[in-house]
Amino acid sequence: MAVIKRPVLFFVLATVFAGFIGCVVSYDRPPPRKDISVPQAEEFSSTSPQQVHVSLVGADKMRISWITESSASPIVEYGTSPGVYSKSATGSTSSYRYLLYTSGEIHDVVIGPLNPNTVYYYRCSSDSSREFRLKTPPAQLPIKFAVVGDLGLTGWTNTTLEHIGQSNYDMLLLPGDLAYADFVQFLWDSFGRLVEPLASQRPWMVTQGNHEVERIPVIHSTPFTAYNARWHMPFEESGSTSNLYYSFDVAGVHVIMLGSYTDFDPDSDQFKWLQADFGKINRGITPWIVAIIHAPWYNTNTAHQGEPESVLMKKSMEGLLYNAGVDFVFAGHVHAYERFTRVYNGTADNCASVHITIGDGGNREGLASKYMDPTPEISVFREASFGHGELKVLNATHAVWTWYRNDDDVSVAADTVWFTSLSSDPACKVV
Ligand SMILES: *[C@@H]1O[C@H](CO)[C@@H](O)[C@H](O)[C@H]1NC(C)=O
Ligand SMILES: *[C@@H]1O[C@H](CO)[C@@H](O)[C@H](O)[C@H]1NC(C)=O
Ligand SMILES: *[C@@H]1O[C@H](CO)[C@@H](O)[C@H](O)[C@H]1NC(C)=O
Ligand SMILES: [Fe+2]
Repeated sequence: MAVIKRPVLFFVLATVFAGFIGCVVSYDRPPPRKDISVPQAEEFSSTSPQQVHVSLVGADKMRISWITESSASPIVEYGTSPGVYSKSATGSTSSYRYLLYTSGEIHDVVIGPLNPNTVYYYRCSSDSSREFRLKTPPAQLPIKFAVVGDLGLTGWTNTTLEHIGQSNYDMLLLPGDLAYADFVQFLWDSFGRLVEPLASQRPWMVTQGNHEVERIPVIHSTPFTAYNARWHMPFEESGSTSNLYYSFDVAGVHVIMLGSYTDFDPDSDQFKWLQADFGKINRGITPWIVAIIHAPWYNTNTAHQGEPESVLMKKSMEGLLYNAGVDFVFAGHVHAYERFTRVYNGTADNCASVHITIGDGGNREGLASKYMDPTPEISVFREASFGHGELKVLNATHAVWTWYRNDDDVSVAADTVWFTSLSSDPACKVV
């Protein structure tokens, strides 16, 4: 009996174990999906506000941005109860041309001062048919960030956004590659409509990727025309001269948005601005620092190896980030998820940034599924699936990061890890 039982038991255990492992690793990588069509609602008129999104400006203001087809006034009326607008603010309107395309009227209004962690109701261009609501970020920790890059506008994007919308996040950080319009300007409008339900409610803070450049030699030689016109970020407030890089404080976190597709050499404006920005950080007020880039400095996927925006930008700026004690560096570009150990100059280092690639929002190019083999030791978790990340910073010392896989349209927590801040580690001598 015993002679029979043992192999049977072994077989049962092996089957259960294989089944368990199978569940964990044999997720079939889904194929890319096509762009979905996001038409303007039929009941809209040419002056209906559309593509509404908001971003943080300074400590207690918000920029409201929206588009109308024909001219409408750049006015936002707002208040803390629905339908009661006790305050209003006026801003400016612009538009741009790109080849044969002329954009709608792009309105840009800064409202505030606003109270932290408060819901405001607002309407744009005095249009009473559409009331929006936004929640301002908290003034103090805790705060929850949603982090996702390389969004695009496919069926995958749609469900990734649905998962983010259910997370009750305070602010979204986007490490570049928004619409994947790639010169086809009306896709920027589709993207604006697709993200509006989320982006009109919480600040969306973005930086640019390669798909935002849209420069055509001779024919349209100015880069970032659509991106800069549509996604005005608070660069002026952080002493930057370019919409392509800026920083801000929120709750207890200093967030630095860097530009991978503009100059980053040690004699560049961006480098000098970053140096000065680090000099202004007060770790008593912002014990955490988060930096966002597009092209990852660490990457063990076979996609996007050796690009100058990765190799040269890292060479130029990694020392600055290391000396400043940046806790996290989030990147996009590679359409997959990868988390590294704390790493500096290629080597694990307890006082260096955690690098995370989160370029898995769901764009139409699909996933980057080939990896270097064997896995380099500094790569802790890597998987080519769509999804998004959430960074909850609880207090001055503790934060928890979770990567959610978009598992055939279901959100599944697939990588959860706790971190302590570099500023709380006496061995790291962060000032
Ligand atoms: C996008 O997702 C929403 C749910 O969040 C769903 O109602 C809608 O049908 C989806 N659109 C497309 C085109 O898949
Ligand atoms: C980085 O590592 C390389 C070797 O991989 C070394 O030559 C270089 O000096 C290091 N740089 C710094 C700033 O530590
Ligand atoms: C910070 O949060 C962590 C995790 O919840 C907790 O263990 C720790 O006691 C908190 N620290 C302070 C100072 O509240
Ligand atoms: Fe990219």
